[in-house]
Amino acid sequence: ATRAFSTSLAAQRDVKNITVFGAGLMGAGIAQVMAHKGGYNVTLADVSDKALQTGSSIISKSLTRIFKKSMADKSADEQAAAVKDIVGKIAFSKDAAQAVEKADLVVEAIIENVGIKQELFKFLDGKAPKECIFATNTSSLSVTDVASTVSAERKKVFGGFHAFNPVPQMKLVEIVRTKETTPDAFDTLTGVAKQMGKVPVSCVDSPGFIVNRLLVPYMLEAIRMVERGEASKEDVDTAMKLGAGYPMGPFELSDLVGLDTLSHIAKGWRETRTQTGEISAEAVKESALLEDLVKDGRTGKKSDKGGFYQ
Ligand code: CAA
Repeated sequence: ATRAFSTSLAAQRDVKNITVFGAGLMGAGIAQVMAHKGGYNVTLADVSDKALQTGSSIISKSLTRIFKKSMADKSADEQAAAVKDIVGKIAFSKDAAQAVEKADLVVEAIIENVGIKQELFKFLDGKAPKECIFATNTSSLSVTDVASTVSAERKKVFGGFHAFNPVPQMKLVEIVRTKETTPDAFDTLTGVAKQMGKVPVSCVDSPGFIVNRLLVPYMLEAIRMVERGEASKEDVDTAMKLGAGYPMGPFELSDLVGLDTLSHIAKGWRETRTQTGEISAEAVKESALLEDLVKDGRTGKKSDKGGFYQ
């Protein structure tokens, strides 16, 4: 059943204009790669000038890093001009209605809160062209739930488009279909990921899709190992890097993902996915160590206080 969808790109729609909502790390990264590698007309939308400035600065920093290597034979001025050129092609907008007026595809990467996402999509449903495809970058919520406030017609062109942090570097995008996503919409999302230079994988709308379904329980169990005094976090990280070939150990990865994010995903799954039997309660059991760090503001790489590591 999972291969019921065509892999040919014949059904793909022509996508030119993409609007990304949310100028944080994920949204900015997605907008960057869509503009730089995909050659799309990209609009990055958020609610405040401050948020848009943050997004623009995330993109500039990342492109500077990329062009420093790919244009190593060129002067710093030429590298800076190349960064400016790409950033200049992205439209930044605070006007959500206007931002989707001509959109072929909307990708949402705002706060991981189902109610706020539903509210945004409900609003956009009334503003975007009727054939515009909607996608969410949610990493842990049900795509079907996120899509519940849009019209029946829109639900057919609604899917998950889940990129990974850091977006410019990570090759994967999970393309998620609900029971209602049409093959046409699914193939179009797959095609966009490919045009961005990414490798798409196909999954159904299940908790955490593929990566987080495996990664979240793994990171939580690593934390419990330390809580139980079985090994130090440093040794667990070294072990998984050198013994399992992971680029980062689970504690380094938790710091990258954000301890607040990890805690939020686990809590959400405890509240909504354990009763349904989709996730075992044991796999997402609350960890006192994790909760204490989050309460202390030690949320990981993004915090001045650090996370598991300084
Ligand atoms: N922009 C541009 N380039 C970047 C970048 C960014 N934001 N971040 C890293 N890079 C580039 C570096 O410039 C470097 O490029 P070269 O190899 O060409 O020199 C390359 O990435 C490697 O970076 P570093 O040398 O600094 O460090 P590293 O080798 O340790 O790699 C890493 C860093 C890519 C993050 C790597 O450690 C890694 O793959 N870690 C695992 C990350 C992961 O699992 N992410 C998924 C998290 S889960 C998630 O995102 C889902 C969720 O919903 C919670």
